[in-house]
Amino acid sequence: MKVITVNDYADMSKKAANMILERVHYSKKLTLGLATGGTPVGTYEHLIKDHKENKTSYQHVTSFNLDEYVGLDPSDRNSYHYYMNEHLFNHIDIPEQQTHIPNGIAENVQQECNDYDQKIMECDGIDLQLLGLGHNGHIGFNEPGTSFETTTHVVSLTKATREANARFFNSFDEVPTQAITMGIQTIMKSKEILLLVSGKKKSSALARLVNGEMDTTFPASILNKHANVTIVADHDALQEVD
Ligand code: F6R
Repeated sequence: MKVITVNDYADMSKKAANMILERVHYSKKLTLGLATGGTPVGTYEHLIKDHKENKTSYQHVTSFNLDEYVGLDPSDRNSYHYYMNEHLFNHIDIPEQQTHIPNGIAENVQQECNDYDQKIMECDGIDLQLLGLGHNGHIGFNEPGTSFETTTHVVSLTKATREANARFFNSFDEVPTQAITMGIQTIMKSKEILLLVSGKKKSSALARLVNGEMDTTFPASILNKHANVTIVADHDALQEVD
């Protein structure tokens, strides 16, 4: 894993956006894996600013998001559909039919999971997958204990993850208990992975990823096995790394 050290969240976002833009500019066809949460917000802001100023086009880009809550309508302000529209899609020229997010209100969520993996395969896989890091080492919503062999599936969210995400909801009780997530194997099949980590709160998780053992109790540890991972992390996040 290659680690790029940056000063702070602002620098991390700029670096990540530039790495994504490089691929957008130089590929005729590009499939991006996208994440939600607090980490990529600044990256998306840079992409939007660049689109406005430099007219970078996303007509040739297809995207697949990592996850979505089960039971939330795409119009729900806390759904990841809503997040992606607000934070990126509404502000760039990516064709809507080329954006994919798991459907959390599908009648048959299992079928939705299978279809999602199938669609990724039909696009020849993900070229660049953007990831954030959960405090407990989750990637996507693959919580500790998830098999490294999983494809897209339905998960029960741990209390810790629901608590971490409660900041976006009116109350903890409103945070959904289940989600659809790309599986660890789905993520690992991406040709390239860009993991963003910022802040002191993530420092022990990042240290465990970089220095620790590869183990299902810490899902992100599997990234050590991927041939092309870049971690962009700020000083605060790196403070516990040996
Ligand atoms: C988001 C996702 C999650 C987050 C992780 C970190 O789509 O799949 O794994 O990347 O929970 O969240 P933040 O960025 O809010 O700290």
